[in-house]
Amino acid sequence: MNYPLKQFETKQTPFYYYDLALLDKTLDEIKSHLDKHYHVHYAVKANVNPQVLRHIRQAGLGCDCVSGGEIQACLDAGFKAEDIVFAGVGKSDWEINLGLDADIFCFNVESVPELEIINELAAAKNKTARVAFRINPNVGAHTHANIATGLSENKFGIDMQDMEAVIRRAQDLSHVHYVGLHFHIGSQILEMDDFAALCQRINELQDRLEPAGLLPENINVGGGLGIDYQDPEGRPIPNFRDYFATYANGLKLRPGQQLHFELGRAVVGQCGSLITRVLYVKSNAIKQFCIVDAGMTDLIRPALYDAYHRVVNLSNPEGQRVRYDVVGPICESSDVFVTDYDLPQTNRGDLIALQSAGAYGEIMACQYNCRRLPLAFTSEDI
Ligand code: LLP
Repeated sequence: MNYPLKQFETKQTPFYYYDLALLDKTLDEIKSHLDKHYHVHYAVKANVNPQVLRHIRQAGLGCDCVSGGEIQACLDAGFKAEDIVFAGVGKSDWEINLGLDADIFCFNVESVPELEIINELAAAKNKTARVAFRINPNVGAHTHANIATGLSENKFGIDMQDMEAVIRRAQDLSHVHYVGLHFHIGSQILEMDDFAALCQRINELQDRLEPAGLLPENINVGGGLGIDYQDPEGRPIPNFRDYFATYANGLKLRPGQQLHFELGRAVVGQCGSLITRVLYVKSNAIKQFCIVDAGMTDLIRPALYDAYHRVVNLSNPEGQRVRYDVVGPICESSDVFVTDYDLPQTNRGDLIALQSAGAYGEIMACQYNCRRLPLAFTSEDI
């Protein structure tokens, strides 16, 4: 990733910086692996920066939304409603109505009560909503517990064994039309075996649904492909080849079935960094603290998931290495980015990059401590 240091010098920190050339390369790589019956819906929850969205739209991806706000952001960014899918365990009536009014491609439904409300709201508009059922496949994923979603103990989806009854319920309702099955086992998954296990579960389910005449037109396998947080420079583009090959080899699609993906992190994760400035360096008997002006309010992933983001001293890359805890200014002990981390010696005013922050970075920022939200720049406007 290239950092235009000179331009950075004049900016108020902290801010997110997005390298749109890297985003474009990532999108090209994704497209090079797509079959004609594959559809990628970018998981908008990862990042809604308007320029990032524009590049993703121009690459021809659709969107995966989980709120009315996200649907609106996608419509505003020029995505076609027919390329939008809408998931979430708790869709409010206004959000369902927004999806109905826009005529989105599909509601990914997570319970029978939700199905009934969608039917009711669609009936009031004399419309028919296309629905897919989110199934909890009870497949574990090798990732942090907070971002694993496909186990029975998680709140997501409908149990696999209830599927026949649920599909039949949809067929009885006059304002919903069953078009698909939806799955998502978790996020930041690097072991392809986890996705292979999902394929296995889907194959079993399809074998069961086929004799009952309940096969769907669409299968949506969610997202979850991880990125290399340890080596963003060495591996800026995720392993899309193995990811798509796992589904191509593992999933037994029936003729005409369309396969949908909802990739978020893998699309935008590596193209973003949080740029922050060193405020103070202080030491006590056991530690050296590098105190920067970004905090957990700007990038919460280390505090929330113990996540690692590589730290780079942009101002003094060749300096002698010193061991620091890099910490933010927030009044919380968990406001720590890295501990015992070797970094070229830092001084007040140095610019620091927290890398691989393009996904679930800016969008999860909050105003705790009455802080300002971080700004964002891209390689196009700097
Ligand atoms: N589809 C569904 C239904 C999802 O719940 C998610 C993510 C995705 C797709 C996209 O997953 P991805 O391809 O980005 O792994 N804030 C956390 C990640 C939460 C992911 C939630 N769901 C983090 O910072 O790691």
